[in-house]
Amino acid sequence: MGARGCQCGFMIHGLAATGRKAGKCDTMADKSTELMHEGLVIKDPTKLRLKPNLQNFEQLRQSFEWSDADKDVEWFPGGKINAAHNAIDRHAKGARKDKVALVYDDGEGRVQKFTFQQLYEETNRFANVLKKLGIMRQDRVFVFLQRSPEAYVAFLGTIKYGAIASPMFPAFGPDAIRDRLGDSEAVALVTDKELKKRFYEVKSQLPALKHLIVVDEEDPPAGEISWKKEMAEASASFETVPMDPEEFQFMLYTSGTTGKPKGVVHAHKGIVQQHLTTKWVLDVHEEDVYWCTADLGWVTGVVYGVLGPWSNGATQVGLSGRFDPERWYRTVQNHKVSVWYTAPTAVRTLMAKGDDMPKKYDLSSLRALYSVGEPLNPEGVKWALDVFDSKPFHDTWWQTETGSILITNFPEMPIKPGSMGKPMPGIEAVIVDETGKVLPQGEEGNLAIRPGWPSMMRQIWKNPAKYNEYFRHGWYYTGDTAQIDKDGYFWYVGRADDVIKTAGERVGPFEVESALIEHPAVAEAGVIGKPDELRGNIIKAFIVLTPGYTESDQLKTDIQKFVKSKLAGHAYPREIDVVKTLPKTRSGKIMRRLLRARELGLPIGDTSTLED
Ligand code: PRX
Repeated sequence: MGARGCQCGFMIHGLAATGRKAGKCDTMADKSTELMHEGLVIKDPTKLRLKPNLQNFEQLRQSFEWSDADKDVEWFPGGKINAAHNAIDRHAKGARKDKVALVYDDGEGRVQKFTFQQLYEETNRFANVLKKLGIMRQDRVFVFLQRSPEAYVAFLGTIKYGAIASPMFPAFGPDAIRDRLGDSEAVALVTDKELKKRFYEVKSQLPALKHLIVVDEEDPPAGEISWKKEMAEASASFETVPMDPEEFQFMLYTSGTTGKPKGVVHAHKGIVQQHLTTKWVLDVHEEDVYWCTADLGWVTGVVYGVLGPWSNGATQVGLSGRFDPERWYRTVQNHKVSVWYTAPTAVRTLMAKGDDMPKKYDLSSLRALYSVGEPLNPEGVKWALDVFDSKPFHDTWWQTETGSILITNFPEMPIKPGSMGKPMPGIEAVIVDETGKVLPQGEEGNLAIRPGWPSMMRQIWKNPAKYNEYFRHGWYYTGDTAQIDKDGYFWYVGRADDVIKTAGERVGPFEVESALIEHPAVAEAGVIGKPDELRGNIIKAFIVLTPGYTESDQLKTDIQKFVKSKLAGHAYPREIDVVKTLPKTRSGKIMRRLLRARELGLPIGDTSTLED
């Protein structure tokens, strides 16, 4: 035991290595024996740079009540709350007034810093702009911007005003924009000169949208509102609206197996758990510089790139621009990042660039590393130990719907590389079968959570049937499959449905199929996720050509470009196979399961519903 000691509080202990990967112990013989994995990262608490905020995890798990967490956030009289008050106002009105809240780096070398007081005044101004426009409480205001100071201000200003904020990923194309603004009946859109072009392509289909606010247009054309002009005229004073804890804070569209993206709605009460997880899991301390690499258009960017860290009064870095390994290392070095939250695809890309690249930078500020969005390979955890001076990545598991981290590797706990870790105090997580029966340790099944945690989604926008599908036999079914080992660690196995995780981003096969069949050459389409070393999965499409079209590389490229331009830069099929027919049920539904089995050489299973 005890292979590598270090100065930084972490060492890796060898367990009997089997050479098997996590989640593969599914024979009867394996179930009765210890799940064995390649190693265990043990932490020596006396050598950690800062004492973890969460101590005695196992003990706390027994005694913790959610009401204990309520005291970490500020409430208005009468049990009212506002997430933006907690993220910004309370610090601006207290000791952190002049503390830097945001270090904004545009990726080209220009850096702007904003204190909590400055963000307080800016978000107040934006709330006053919404007031002037006559926006109503709980109206939907969408933010469609590249990462920029305006994106943070618009998002939080909307929340403090009492409207529902919804950020959109800036790579979305016109169809994706139309689906979101249309379904939510958004009344206002904050965007920029470049991105607004995509909105205009679908504007005529969005009758509810009344206000288009453009951040970088000095003198916008008729029908548009100038951010600069309105913000300059608006007052910097605003009384943040006390909200019922169940009133809505933000909404985000995400993908499922069927249908268009669904609007996952979160309540102001969620800030309780968003605060607590940032404190206990990401372990943010007063002196930390925190950096979450996720775009503000995704839930990680919203919850752990805005709300949770600022509720804890952290200084955070916001880096604009595309992912670029050198730029990322430079960002850690230049801003002395100490806590870093990123995604496995990024980790794998950094790994692929080799160990010499990080050596060119001073990364000694790093103290704690975290990852989310897809399985983090044990190799990623170990690579980090090597290149980041013995600091491992801590895997965290959660979803758009869960609103905050539910299962994780805590700073004080030993890490089993490849495992998602253990449930947060207050979270009851189990493995169940389709009938709701809780399965014993070691068995693979549906990962399910006992409903009722504070940051749980409150609604699928205007779609109660879809919302109810998540809840069965008294459990929230996550759509993931997993297993629990004898030490209570959770191991991710896969998705129970057809949802595709590509480079950590969630894509619904139906959306891609719908975009594909709008191309004149495509008569039918079936889409699956195909395992990929770097991206976790890539999107693969099987298409039937419209009569008169002939298969060619040029045609495939054309189809790929078409889907990219409609949906988003990441949501197009990297591989396309032309087939004569697609396997369908007798009712005409494409059997993606069979496409996947055929592609991956897996058993095809039950085909009794197959058309012929
Ligand atoms: O399949 C799981 C995967 O991402 C899904 C949730 O995706 P999304 O709503 O986009 O949220 C991502 C960021 C919160 C999950 O159902 N996932 C998330 N974290 C992990 C993961 N898969 C494996 N390991 C994880 N740590």
